[in-house]
Amino acid sequence: MEPPAIRAALPADEADWRRLWRGYCDFYGAAIGKQVTDRTWQRILDPDSAIMCIVAEVDGKVYGFANCVVHENTWEIQPVCYLEDLFVLPSARGHGIGTALIEWLRNAMRAEGWARLYWVTREDNERARKLYDRFVHADGFVRYMIRQS
Ligand SMILES: CC(C)(COP(=O)(O)OP(=O)(O)OC[C@H]1O[C@@H](n2cnc3c(N)ncnc32)[C@H](O)[C@@H]1OP(=O)(O)O)[C@@H](O)C(=O)NCCC(=O)NCCS
Repeated sequence: MEPPAIRAALPADEADWRRLWRGYCDFYGAAIGKQVTDRTWQRILDPDSAIMCIVAEVDGKVYGFANCVVHENTWEIQPVCYLEDLFVLPSARGHGIGTALIEWLRNAMRAEGWARLYWVTREDNERARKLYDRFVHADGFVRYMIRQS
């Protein structure tokens, strides 16, 4: 497989993005409703939204994505980038697409002046962690979450 081209998602990527999103939600066993999915895609395309998405394309076909949220924080003056969702189609894994998506974000961090790029994953997501550990080691923080319902 050729190295992927990484770029911001475009309106024409909607069908591919939805397919990747479904795969990602299935991976986590998450039942995300259509309304939320529609709204997430809408915000990705909205330049005034904090949500952004990059896709990985090889020979005109989209194989992976990263959805991110760029937000303010209290520890730095510059915004930071939260990599919320990362997914590569199962048939395309192991070809460097995940690596290329994170590398693109690391370069964007420098270009955009984000103070940090960060993400979380399940402790037992060994495949993902193998990839992440090549960039940086986990910092030992543990996530807590209270849900509204
Ligand atoms: C994690 C994920 C994004 C990695 O994407 P990827 O394109 O396969 O990543 P890369 O090819 O850049 O590197 C992944 C590493 O894991 C290995 N790997 C990942 N998936 C593999 C697969 N299906 N088969 C064999 N090796 C695989 C790669 O060989 C590579 O390690 P190596 O270079 O030391 O051999 C992808 O496996 C995925 O979408 N997983 C399901 C969703 C997920 O876990 N997302 C992250 C949630 S935080």
